[in-house]
Amino acid sequence: MGPLSGPLCTQRITWKGLLLTASLLNFWNPLTTAQVTIEAQPPKVSEGKDVLLLVHSLPQNLTGYIWYKGQMKDLYHYITSYEVDGQIIIHGPAYSGRETVYSNASLLIQNVTREDAGSYTLHIIKRGDGTRRVTGNFTFTLYVETPKPSISSSNLNPREAMDTVILTCDPETPDASYLWWMNGQSLPKTHRLKLSETNRTLFLFGVTKYITGPYECEIRNPVSASRSDPVTLNLLHGPDRPTICPAFTYYHSGENLYLSCFADSNPPAEYSWTINGKFQLSGEKLFIRQITTKHSGIYACSVRNPATGKERSKSLTVKVLGKWIPA
Ligand SMILES: *[C@@H]1O[C@H](CO)[C@@H](O)[C@H](O)[C@H]1NC(C)=O
Ligand SMILES: *[C@@H]1O[C@H](CO)[C@@H](O)[C@H](O)[C@H]1NC(C)=O
Ligand SMILES: *[C@@H]1O[C@H](CO)[C@@H](O)[C@H](O)[C@H]1NC(C)=O
Ligand SMILES: *[C@@H]1O[C@H](CO)[C@@H](O)[C@H](O)[C@H]1NC(C)=O
Ligand SMILES: *[C@@H]1O[C@H](CO)[C@@H](O)[C@H](O)[C@H]1NC(C)=O
Repeated sequence: MGPLSGPLCTQRITWKGLLLTASLLNFWNPLTTAQVTIEAQPPKVSEGKDVLLLVHSLPQNLTGYIWYKGQMKDLYHYITSYEVDGQIIIHGPAYSGRETVYSNASLLIQNVTREDAGSYTLHIIKRGDGTRRVTGNFTFTLYVETPKPSISSSNLNPREAMDTVILTCDPETPDASYLWWMNGQSLPKTHRLKLSETNRTLFLFGVTKYITGPYECEIRNPVSASRSDPVTLNLLHGPDRPTICPAFTYYHSGENLYLSCFADSNPPAEYSWTINGKFQLSGEKLFIRQITTKHSGIYACSVRNPATGKERSKSLTVKVLGKWIPA
């Protein structure tokens, strides 16, 4: 499928020439009878491939046609035109170098890019009877296969109930709609989740463990749909109230005291122990061999989340009984 066969002249139009063409076209009357239809071949085109905008049922006795990008038929959107009698092709400001217009008005677009998606208008000019000239405009929307999206996050490590996270579905794709999923299901209805007007951006206000994801987004247009990989937020939370194990209170002199402390926290908490308010050691576990009554007191475990700066503590009263001496 080569460009036009036969003699042909391709030239860059001058601004003066364009203005003249436009003013002549504006003078002509609408074409009412044409049943022109435009079809993309293939209907599903992906980036880097070629697509032919096939024009069907083109009326007879045409003077020429002009392709515009978009629905604005002005000089800035003028891609290319074909003048039948002289077989002259003229390129306009919207010509990218990848479009070829054929004598049957079909338009080939090579190496399709995302920016090529959108509407196109074919303006045809018919040879009128006598002085009347008629025109017609036909609009067509070209869809380019959606790329696989990815989710970008303003913050992958939000602090629980404190931070707002903004998730964006990339890339921005013209004439496409955006859909979101959390845990493989449509988004839960909560005041903590809000979509932007286009649905491309998702706001998470004060992230809690119920809304950490995994999130997926999908870009969909009438010819295709593609979904992103899941993204899960790493929620910085806690520490929760610590627990001390074992929770026994009474010990006998000579026993070993072995206490351990735990608090759920992300990142893991920093632990420290005090006895009667005096710092004893850092770490989750406290071990004292062969305790005596002197070891009675208040044992407290403090936990601190280094990322959120939050602290909590738990204390346990330990009573060490003297050696039981049988009577
Ligand atoms: C087609 O577009 C041209 C250029 O904007 C305009 O002059 C003409 O009236 C339009 N014709 C119809 C049928 O809408
Ligand atoms: C128009 O011409 C192109 C290129 O020769 C061809 O591929 C296409 O099928 C033609 N369109 C129609 C509707 O015949
Ligand atoms: C095309 O134009 C010629 C001469 O102007 C005319 O004889 C013929 O009937 C026209 N054909 C159509 C299909 O309008
Ligand atoms: C399309 O892309 C290929 C490879 O990138 C390049 O060789 C070719 O010249 C391009 N064609 C047009 C019409 O831009
Ligand atoms: C955004 O998504 C909602 C459903 O979640 C839908 O009703 C609405 O039409 C979408 N808006 C756009 C612009 O796609």
